[in-house]
Amino acid sequence: MRVLSGIQPTGNLHLGNYLGAIRNWVRMQEEMPAADAATGSADSRCFFFLADLHSISEHLAPADRLRNVREMTAALVACGIDPDRSVLFNQARVPAHAEMQWLLNGTARMGWLNRMTQFKDKAGKNKEGASIALFTYPVLQAADVLLYQATHVPVGEDQKQHLELTRDIAIKFNADFDVELFTIPDPYIPKQTARIMSLRDGTAKMSKSDPSDMSRINLTDDDDTLVQKVRKARTDPEPIPADPAELEGRAEATNLIDIYAAFSGQDRAAICAAFGGQGFGAFKPALADLLVHHLAPIRDRYVALKDDDAALDAILVKGAGKAAEAAAPTLKGAYEAMGLMR
Ligand code: TYM
Repeated sequence: MRVLSGIQPTGNLHLGNYLGAIRNWVRMQEEMPAADAATGSADSRCFFFLADLHSISEHLAPADRLRNVREMTAALVACGIDPDRSVLFNQARVPAHAEMQWLLNGTARMGWLNRMTQFKDKAGKNKEGASIALFTYPVLQAADVLLYQATHVPVGEDQKQHLELTRDIAIKFNADFDVELFTIPDPYIPKQTARIMSLRDGTAKMSKSDPSDMSRINLTDDDDTLVQKVRKARTDPEPIPADPAELEGRAEATNLIDIYAAFSGQDRAAICAAFGGQGFGAFKPALADLLVHHLAPIRDRYVALKDDDAALDAILVKGAGKAAEAAAPTLKGAYEAMGLMR
C-alpha cells in the first residue's frame, strides 16, 4: 500500500479540504505500520505534498506563493500530519515531478484533457487567455501519483476525474512501451463528506475561490467567526425531518447534517432522530459547539507553527530528500522505457 495525495497551497485550509481529504490523510498515516516509521522504511509510507508547481496555473505574487506554501505546511501539521511518519514536501523541491510530466505529455491525449471539467470551470469564457499550465494541470497530477507507484489516493469527489485520467495515462504508457512500469492507482473518496457544500449555496462546493468568506469554514477561523458562520448558514424554513430520507432535495440542510455527522461520529438517522421536528435554530448552536470543539485545537497548533519559517522549511527540505529518493527509480524507468538516454 502506497498512499499519496496533494493540496494546492492557495489560501487557507477549509472544512471541505479537511473532511474531503486531510482527515483521511491523517487516518491513513495512523494505519501505516508503526514499524515502518521506526525503521525508516519508505516502502509503506504516506506521501503528502504542497502542489506549488500546480499553483503556477494562476498568477500569484512570489512572496504570497512562498507564504502560502509555508502556511499550508503548518496547517497540515496542525491537522495531524506527522513529518516523521509521513513524507511531507513541496513539489517544486523535487524536480522529478516536472520531468515526469514532460514525459507523460507524450502519452496524454488532447481529447482527454479537453474533457476535464476543472479546466472548463476555471477557464470559464476566457479559454484563450488561460495559461497552458491550467490546461496541462492534470498531466502534472498524473506525474505526481505515478512517480511514487501510489495505490491509494485520498481525495474529495472533485478530483475523481483527474484520477481517472491518471489511470488512463498509466495504462496507455504501460501498453505503448510494453512495460509494467506504473501502478494503476485508486482514488480513495469518503462516502459522506466527498463534497462539502458552500454555506451560502447548497449547489456549489465549498471552495477557496468563492469570493464570500461566509461561504466556507476556514480552519483558522476564531470561535466567534465559526459561530457566526454557522448561524448565518443558509437553510430552508422546514424543520429537520425525523426520517433522513426526507432530506432529499434539501441540499443546505443535508450539508449541515453531514458536517455534524462527520464530527460527531453519528449517522444521518441518529441526528434526524435527535433533532427531528426541531428548526435549525436549535440545531445550529449544537453544530457550532461541535465545530469549535474539534477545530479550536487545530487552529491553536496552526497559530503556534505558522510563523516558524525555519522549522517549516526544515520539514519540507527533509521531506523532499525522501521524496526524491522514492521517485528516482520510476523516473529512470520511464526514460529507459521511452528510449531516452540521460
Ligand atoms: P485542492 O487543493 O483543490 O483540494 C485539496 C483536497 O481537498 C478536497 N476538497 C474537497 N473535498 C470535499 N468537499 C469540498 N468542498 C472540497 N474542496 C476540496 C479535494 O478533492 C482535494 O482532495 N489537484 C489537487 C491537488 C493535487 C493532487 C495531486 C491531489 C495535485 N496533485 C495528486 C491528489 C494527487 C487540488 O487542486 O486539490
